[in-house]
Parts: sequence; C-alpha cells; structure tokens
Amino acid sequence: LTIGVLLSGSGSNLEAILDACENDDLPVRVAVVVASRPDAYGITRAQQHGIPTLVMNKERYVNPLEADALIVNTLQHHHVEYVVMAGYMRKLTHVLLNAFPQRVLNIHPALLPAFPGAHAIREAFDAGVKVTGVTIHFANEVYDEGPIIAQHALDVRQDETLEILEARIHSVEHVLYPQVLRLLATHDMVITGKKVCVYPKSD
Ligand code: GRF
Repeated sequence: LTIGVLLSGSGSNLEAILDACENDDLPVRVAVVVASRPDAYGITRAQQHGIPTLVMNKERYVNPLEADALIVNTLQHHHVEYVVMAGYMRKLTHVLLNAFPQRVLNIHPALLPAFPGAHAIREAFDAGVKVTGVTIHFANEVYDEGPIIAQHALDVRQDETLEILEARIHSVEHVLYPQVLRLLATHDMVITGKKVCVYPKSD
C-alpha cells in the first residue's frame, strides 16, 4: 500500500509508521511526506528515512484550494493510494478530498465524537472523563467528523497529570496507526453512511 503522510508537527506518528514498515513487515510504503509548515520536525524525520518531502509555506500558498491542488499533484506523482494525516493542522478542501474519495485517514487523540478539535486531550482531562482514547477515521470536510475505522480506549487514572495522560495517548496512537494501516492493506473497508465495515479482501 502506497501512502502519503500529511503532518504539521513533530511527526512521531510518522516515525511509528516507518518503524512498523521497517521492523514489523507492515506492507506499507511512505512515498512522500507533506508538511504544512517549514518548521515541522516531521520533515527532518522524513529526510532521515530518505523520503521526499513537500513543504508548504503558508505565506506562499495563501489560497487553500491552490495549496491542495499542489499537494494532490505531488501525491499523484508519487502514486499515493491513501492519504494519512498525522497531526495535520490545515483544513482539507474538496480539491484533495475529491481526488482521494474515502481514501484520507486522520488520527485524533480522543474518543470521537467526544472532544473534537485541536485541544482534545486537555479538554477530556479537564472534563474529568474516566475513559478517553484514540480514534482513527476517514476524513471529510468537517474536522474530526468522518466515518470511524478504529478506536482504542484508555482509563484515566485518578492520580495522573495531563502530561502523563498525553504521553499514554501518544503511545496508543503509535500502536493503533500501524494496526489500522495493516488492516487497510489486507482488508476491504466498506463505508455505509458513517459506518465502516471491514472484510477480508475479496480478490
Ligand atoms: C497526535 O496527537 C494526533 O492525534 C493529533 O496530532 C498529534 C500529532 O503528533 N492529530 P505527531 O506529529 O505525530 O507527533
């Protein structure tokens, strides 16, 4: 399975995916990494693995439609089949979503539909929930809203700090993304409305 990874930050999920490709025979190839900002550490990680990068500069690409058109060109040039968002903080437009219908994934550090948005871990922590977790879902034009592929729940411990909870959530992410990508490579996913069903490949 050939994927392109979209990121804006540290890229620890990218690293976990690359690690699973190299050490756990994950049948996935990261063909290109797109960063929405030039200071994203994920760019360095990609370069360390010899993966080509496209770095978007907000000042240069102010129009989100034009930016997505350039991203789509790059992804297609690298024969990308699935687009994997890992901490990508830019909103997707229909230009990208239409080019990869039902082929864009996102990871979110909470149990959606609870706590969407950019501060999910802290908001869940402050709300005093006893269970939170990680969600991987297909992306659509609404943030953190598309059909859910997988979730992993985590008990919030009564004595833990936000920092510890954050670290535990990230560890779950680093296991769940490779698992879902393995599922994607070996199974068919049928989306009906908001529901995703997973079947062994028919061919
Ligand atoms: C992750 O927590 C992910 O769930 C969220 O952004 C973070 C990205 O982390 N969408 P990293 O850049 O992969 O380290």
